[in-house]
Amino acid sequence: MRIVICDDAAAATRTAVDRIAAALRARPASVLGLATGGTMEPVYEGLIAAHRDGLSFAQAVSFNLDEYVGLPPGHPQSYRSYMQRHLFDHVDIAPERTFVPSGEGDPQAASDAYEAALRAHGPLDLQLLGLGHNGHIGFNEPGSSLASRTREKLLTRTTREANARFFKEGETPPRSAVTMGIGTILEARSILVLALGAGKAAAVQGTVEGPVTAMCPGSALQMHPDVTMIVDSAAAADL
Ligand code: GLP
Repeated sequence: MRIVICDDAAAATRTAVDRIAAALRARPASVLGLATGGTMEPVYEGLIAAHRDGLSFAQAVSFNLDEYVGLPPGHPQSYRSYMQRHLFDHVDIAPERTFVPSGEGDPQAASDAYEAALRAHGPLDLQLLGLGHNGHIGFNEPGSSLASRTREKLLTRTTREANARFFKEGETPPRSAVTMGIGTILEARSILVLALGAGKAAAVQGTVEGPVTAMCPGSALQMHPDVTMIVDSAAAADL
């Protein structure tokens, strides 16, 4: 795993944006694996700025990691609507080239359909990942099988609490999500992880230096031959 430690969050974000933009320029028909979460919002702002400067997404295909079970695509907190708001509505990617798992209907059927779509378009050229405070990747919570495929995963209490900030007061955040599995993620040709802030320091340490264990899903990335982790100095504090 290559670790890039930047002075601050802005520099780390810029580094991530530059790498994604360079990958897309080198291979305009890239299959991109995309992530959600607060960390990624400025990354997508950077990509939109790069698009204004000429970067095209027209030939790319994108696959998001996960979606909340029970949220229709139009719900403001669904990851589909997050992606529309933060990226897709602002760049030249055709809607039929953007894949997000379905949070509606039978989660097993949605998962199987997603794996089939990945098989049809894949492999992913570049998977972008954030890191949960507990070391989760996508919504693969601690205890996830390292060989897991896309499936429904129950969210831990801490994850639901961390993500409650995005939901309206009184609204109950979803209890589960359909997420690409760890095995699915590891099939990407190349993986870029971005983790920022002191709150991620323990998860970064476990991912980079810890034993490979289902209790820190990020640690599975140690088994992948092409992973770059970009962190700011606060997130690198425990390394
Ligand atoms: C969610 C997403 C993850 C993301 C994590 C971190 O749980 N499913 O893909 O990495 O949040 O989010 P944040 O960047 O808001 O800390």
